[in-house]
Amino acid sequence: MNTMHAFRDEGMKSAFREFLELYPDFVATYPVDDLRAKEYSRVDAQHHIYLDYTGGNLYADKQVREHHELLRNHVFGNPHSSNPTSLAMTDLVEHARHYILEFFHADPEEYVAIFTPNASGALKLVGESYPFGKGDQYLLTFDNHNSVNGIREFARARGAQPTYVPLELPDMRVNESQLSEFLDLARPGGKNLFAYPAQSNFSGVQHPLEWIEQAHQKGWDVLVDVAAFVPTNRLDLARWKPDFVPLSFYKMFGYPTGVGCLLARKSALKELHRPWFSGGTITVASVQGDTYYMADDEAGFEDGTLNYLTLPAVEIGLRHLTAVGLDMIHTRVQCLTGWLLENLQAVRHSNGAPVVRFYGPLNIRARGGTITMNFYDPEGRFFDHRRIEAEANARKISLRTGCFCNPGGGEIALGLSQTELAGCFNQPQERLTLDDFRLCIDGKSFGAVRVSVGLVSNFADVYHFVQFAGSFVDRRK
Ligand SMILES: Cc1ncc(COP(=O)(O)O)c(C=O)c1O
Repeated sequence: MNTMHAFRDEGMKSAFREFLELYPDFVATYPVDDLRAKEYSRVDAQHHIYLDYTGGNLYADKQVREHHELLRNHVFGNPHSSNPTSLAMTDLVEHARHYILEFFHADPEEYVAIFTPNASGALKLVGESYPFGKGDQYLLTFDNHNSVNGIREFARARGAQPTYVPLELPDMRVNESQLSEFLDLARPGGKNLFAYPAQSNFSGVQHPLEWIEQAHQKGWDVLVDVAAFVPTNRLDLARWKPDFVPLSFYKMFGYPTGVGCLLARKSALKELHRPWFSGGTITVASVQGDTYYMADDEAGFEDGTLNYLTLPAVEIGLRHLTAVGLDMIHTRVQCLTGWLLENLQAVRHSNGAPVVRFYGPLNIRARGGTITMNFYDPEGRFFDHRRIEAEANARKISLRTGCFCNPGGGEIALGLSQTELAGCFNQPQERLTLDDFRLCIDGKSFGAVRVSVGLVSNFADVYHFVQFAGSFVDRRK
């Protein structure tokens, strides 16, 4: 299907023509429009404008169909046994595991794939098992997801020092010479862990994967959170060698939820000490002998029974992404993001003031399809992000507001200082609600609006969002 014919709106048609002149590479991604019409038709039939791919991806009808057919046509038992139904399941689970490694070009001699409930589950495995000791270091960038921030509590409890690497405005990138100084903090002979997102779920910034080797050279183990990166970018573990790589599969292909994975280098995994043992993680455990032996590799990290029936759907999802082509998805996301950034900047009040101000890079160099912003009136007063969300909801636009579980990104972007935040945390009441926080820091927004494009985004999605932004022209707070 030629996308142009799908537009009834004349304004959209001419905007699309201009878009193609600026982004001719988009033409090569037309197969995605066909795919959307065939496999994701419910989105358009129900008039949804889906702009929350960083929150979660959408699934193709055929992923669900194929998975359900598999379940309906076979008899599967718990993979912990050696009976025929169990062996059939084990076969599929191990197939999925191998396919994950293959998808990321990870050598099975070097990496293992550990199934977890989600990226947070993968991060918790690292946090609770990393052998931090007194004087060790946990270094992380400001723009990490809370599940990476949370590892600092494990670090601190064992006497290690958490240190945050700041970001520079307006692009929200790290100053690399400053990073190099932070990397010098590694305790010689100690356990030092450096964590950063390959793509920030706040600003869309893609931090260099070259940092992995730089950090290794200076004595760090490296955790790269790829949860927001891998849905639209190729991660090649034959080229890059991070020690710990957490991700959630629903962010890559929508279905199934409830499964993530920790890709871990075997050499780094050997250094981890799990704080307990459980069903599935030991070779032998004795009650009277009061002893246990941990299982090797991934088995030592998968507690209890896996969510086994869903695991074949992970392979189905990865094969779906492979069939579409990550390069095609990447190109499409780049084109749509570039156009969105340019056209949102052009939305102006009559007095020339911008309607939208961004947090993150304004061009597509080293950034993904996540764009975070706030809306302003002609006098430069921000609209509460909850109001923007309510109005977007009314148009069936799915976007995200708040801080996206990325408080450090939010604090830098919104200019919330340590003194202001400390003032809030020192209020007389024990626990502040988010609304208390809002009132506490006068005159500053306490959240932002995030849109993100992905796998089956199309031109109409981004066009509608620019129209939506246009509806705020000359409106007063
Ligand atoms: C960069 C990043 N890391 C980690 C996570 C946590 O993922 P999950 O909630 O699936 O555990 C997210 C989710 O939004 C994310 O964007």
